[in-house]
Amino acid sequence: MAEAATPFQRLGGESAVRALVDRFYDLMDLEPQYQIIRVLHPTTLDGSRDKLFWFLSGWLGGPNHYIDRFGHPMLRARHLPFAIGDAERDQWMACMAQALQECGVEPDLAAGLRQAFQGTADWMRNRAS
Ligand code: HEM
Repeated sequence: MAEAATPFQRLGGESAVRALVDRFYDLMDLEPQYQIIRVLHPTTLDGSRDKLFWFLSGWLGGPNHYIDRFGHPMLRARHLPFAIGDAERDQWMACMAQALQECGVEPDLAAGLRQAFQGTADWMRNRAS
């Protein structure tokens, strides 16, 4: 029996994950409604793009590029230098939801991914707001 496709495969593999990440950071850079999270990031987003692409590739069931480079992601610890409350979480989620939609991700897959992102984004909060 064939194994179930991973979210990585359903999205369309590496080029589709890269396109999603690029759209996510393009929107963060361009759209004023994501300004609270834009200012937390470096002036140039090239490094952020690479890291999120490497991370999501493995997180979605594809190649573990992030772990191969940096070891365990320790995602919450890596976000501690940035004050993340409800407003930051909500902007991150809205930016990702817009990117999923604009990349034409199939609605069922997009809904599942939004739910998975929401769990991780909730967990990333490190200050009461
Ligand atoms: C909840 C709101 C979030 C905010 C405000 C936020 C913000 C940030 C910031 C400012 C950085 C540093 C960027 C850089 O060093 O270039 C970062 C890094 C990162 N974020 Fe987030 N993030 C959030 C949620 C998430 C979520 C939900 C994920 C994964 C699903 C994620 C994955 C990553 C990864 C993989 C890195 C790179 C870590 C490293 O190696 O330094 N973030 N994030």
